[in-house]
Amino acid sequence: MEIIIQPTPEAATKIAARIIARQLREKPDAVLGLATGSTPLLLYRELVALKLDWSKVTTFNLDEYVGLPREHPQSYHSFMWENLFRHVNIAKKNVHIPDGNTKDIPKFCAKYEKQIRAAGGIDLQVLGIGTDGHIGFNEPTSSLASRTRIKTLTQLTRRDNARFFGSEADVPHHVVTMGIGTIMEAKQILLLAFGPKKSRAIAEAVEGPITAVNPASVLQMHPVTKVCLDAPAASGLQRADYYRWVYDNKPGWQTF
Ligand code: PGA
Repeated sequence: MEIIIQPTPEAATKIAARIIARQLREKPDAVLGLATGSTPLLLYRELVALKLDWSKVTTFNLDEYVGLPREHPQSYHSFMWENLFRHVNIAKKNVHIPDGNTKDIPKFCAKYEKQIRAAGGIDLQVLGIGTDGHIGFNEPTSSLASRTRIKTLTQLTRRDNARFFGSEADVPHHVVTMGIGTIMEAKQILLLAFGPKKSRAIAEAVEGPITAVNPASVLQMHPVTKVCLDAPAASGLQRADYYRWVYDNKPGWQTF
């Protein structure tokens, strides 16, 4: 894991945007895995401002609520079109977001996995992290080998996400999410976390044991993961000084 600590979310996001921009320049037909939530909002704004060519890019989103109409303002379909897709030249046919309204969820999930494989796999996966360490909506105790499937949200996650819905009662209980095994197959992973509420989950994920109780900790097994943090999200890390030194003293050929 490469831990990149910056003073602010804006500074950490700029680095993440540069990594994605480089990926799209090096491979114009890259396959991106995308995340939703408050964390990547700045990232999408930054990517839009960079005016990159998305015409050959394919995307797969991590997750979607079950039973929420596609046009609901809090659906992840709405989120992605509102915050990224409508501002860039992506082809609609290349956008994939789990369908939370499908009649046959297992069949849909198998198809989603097949579509990812058919696209050649995910080159770069963007992740946020839940306060409970979830990635995608893989809640604590999710199988570390899981594939795309239905999951039940924890009360903590529903409480965390109530801010988007107005009340906790309106947050759906079920979601379709890429599995941890699915996420781990991405060639490169970019995890972003900002704010003091994420500090514990980040400390456990980066410096704790690998455990399904903190699903993000499995990223310790991923060969190319970069973790972009602001200072408050990094405040629980024991070795923060080392990570800062490493980043500030990267050999020229390693910088991005
Ligand atoms: P957030 O959610 O970006 O809204 O904090 C992160 C997550 O649940 O993965």
